[in-house]
Amino acid sequence: MSGGFTKVLVKSEVPEGTLKLAQLGGKRVVVANVGGNFFVMGEVCTHMGGPLSRGRLNGFVITCPWHGSRFDARTGAVVGGPAVRPEPSYEVKVVRT
Ligand code: FES
Repeated sequence: MSGGFTKVLVKSEVPEGTLKLAQLGGKRVVVANVGGNFFVMGEVCTHMGGPLSRGRLNGFVITCPWHGSRFDARTGAVVGGPAVRPEPSYEVKVVRT
């Protein structure tokens, strides 16, 4: 942890256009790489617990593999049901080493 941030992954573990499961403070989160920009939100679908890291990433939208709820990777907001509650969203900082 540095300056309020916690390391979750190394950049190369999340190629552009993909999703990756990570742990953040004991919680499952999904890291999305959209055009080289990284976004982090909750990984457990707020509908019935589907694994969002195994879903599809289309632009900024992550689609749950179980029933197709869609979330905005930038904010965690629901953009398509059946989920109605947003995912928690986390600020991201990329550190070059
Ligand atoms: S568990 Fe994700 S849409 Fe149902």
